[in-house]
Amino acid sequence: MNNKELLDAAKQVSKNAYAKYSDFQVGACALYESGKTYTGCNVENASYGLCLCAERNAISTAIAQGETSRLTAVAIFSPKTKLCWPCGACRQWFSEFEQGQIIKVILEGKDGNPVEYSIDDVIPNRFELIK
Ligand code: THU
Repeated sequence: MNNKELLDAAKQVSKNAYAKYSDFQVGACALYESGKTYTGCNVENASYGLCLCAERNAISTAIAQGETSRLTAVAIFSPKTKLCWPCGACRQWFSEFEQGQIIKVILEGKDGNPVEYSIDDVIPNRFELIK
């Protein structure tokens, strides 16, 4: 899928968001080296701290479906704003699955077209577990 198609898939799944507390719907579409894509939306909870972000929902779905190839891109969409940047926790999740390569982070730009950033743009100097 190209960037536009990934962003469209994120837009589509944002319609399923369970965002009754924030009214801020988010959709994400994760692309893997296998060519497969997985989508997720945010899922909120009355205990606010338990809210699940769209990006981590999409990546969790990929893992649950048995995906083992490298995460290559994540598109993120919210009908509430252009440039819906991922939160810090989701950025660290992207980092987990890059396997030493570059992940593209695709957002809806101000003009409505997809814009692309690298993992280093969104999470420079990220945490790595060194034993
Ligand atoms: N949210 C996401 O789904 N992804 C992010 O990267 C940031 C925030 C959701 C969580 C919550 O349901 C709503 O947006 C408002 O914070």
